[in-house]
Amino acid sequence: MPGHKGVKLHGLEPLDITEIKGADFLFEADGIIAESERLTAEAFGSRLTCYSAEGSSLSIKAALCIVKQYLGRDISVASPRNCHRAFLNGCALLDIDPVWIFPDSERTLLCECAVSPEAVERCLDGQHIDAVYITSPDYLGNIAAVRKIADICHRRGAFLICDNAHGAYLKFAGEGLHPLELGADIVCDSAHKTLPVYTGGAYLHISKTAPEGFDALAKPAMALFGSTSPSYLIMQSLDKCADMLHGELPDMIRNCCERTARVKQLMRRRGIPDISEEPAKITAAAEKIGYDGGELAEMLRGAMIECEYSDPGAVVLMCSPFNTERDFARLEDFFSGLEIRPPLTGADNLLSELRPEKVMSIRRAVFSPAERIAADDASGRIAARTAMSCQPSVAIVMAGERITPEIVKILKKYGILETDVI
Ligand SMILES: Cc1ncc(COP(=O)(O)O)c(C=O)c1O
Repeated sequence: MPGHKGVKLHGLEPLDITEIKGADFLFEADGIIAESERLTAEAFGSRLTCYSAEGSSLSIKAALCIVKQYLGRDISVASPRNCHRAFLNGCALLDIDPVWIFPDSERTLLCECAVSPEAVERCLDGQHIDAVYITSPDYLGNIAAVRKIADICHRRGAFLICDNAHGAYLKFAGEGLHPLELGADIVCDSAHKTLPVYTGGAYLHISKTAPEGFDALAKPAMALFGSTSPSYLIMQSLDKCADMLHGELPDMIRNCCERTARVKQLMRRRGIPDISEEPAKITAAAEKIGYDGGELAEMLRGAMIECEYSDPGAVVLMCSPFNTERDFARLEDFFSGLEIRPPLTGADNLLSELRPEKVMSIRRAVFSPAERIAADDASGRIAARTAMSCQPSVAIVMAGERITPEIVKILKKYGILETDVI
């Protein structure tokens, strides 16, 4: 193995090796992979960093598994409802029935993180919780009050797991931005989203202040959910990135953030609201300047700019050190020439009021026989799968919850015309 024998067909085959002598084993690393992971841990200031060749999707399941095994019993985990599908899959596989922290803001955008320390505190005061799981930054670039949330968790004996899939670069963008620096116990970073790493490359970080017992559980937890054939291409890319993080990359990231700040300034001057708190992400609140997000995304595309994401309310643009000055100039030209229109009304706040009835656990729901039916016929039925309009966003209905006429209305508003029910 591999069958291609290193012959160039697609192009990268010569680099696509397997566990040959000297290449080390990802899940039992004691050679070059372990050394590379140590280099990365040093760059991030973690006590332990494990590589994932299967994204944060793998790291997130492993993080939940570590807490469950460390405590040696069933665990209670609280989370806002904007979690990624990987968390829900982890809950189903590990038999965790999450306690939902509902947003306390009036307006809930589809992808907003909307979790306040007060809401976390209320949740933890009301019941025993072993771990709180938050997503920060969220897709729109909102950054949660991680330090405050971590303090609240730790005062009540709960661990904090942070899905920082979008924020690996934050460690190098400035002081005190990465969740590891702010008290999170376990952090999952998708290196591939914001660092120069092949798609699929990610980290599982264990913080220096987390229980030492977590360390020995980390690799077995990754192995429990991971493939026995992790891609060496992805691992080599993570390794290259480790070298760069000890070299020129932090400066390049800071320069990128400075350049992005100039675009953000121009937008401010022109009255184009940018709701992202991240230094390398721009989120234009399209509705507020009179555009549907999809329309604005098309206009950007016409100007040779491809956004990361758009929904009716927002358009997300992600910048990286590998964007060129020409890219930034093009973006500035676009925003300089954009006509500002009166705001659109009827903003999406349908989700903020929603408190669906839970009928059964996520695990029971996802392993039950299910059928796909038209959303129009789903009222009164129990959802077999979680319905979201994008990943990650606030779920419209979670697996195991009852679908109501109000939920049907929201599903249809987001173009979900069929749904799986038990
Ligand atoms: C917030 C969040 N968490 C986790 C994931 C999963 O990460 P990955 O694609 O690296 O498996 C994503 C992917 O989009 C995400 O947006």
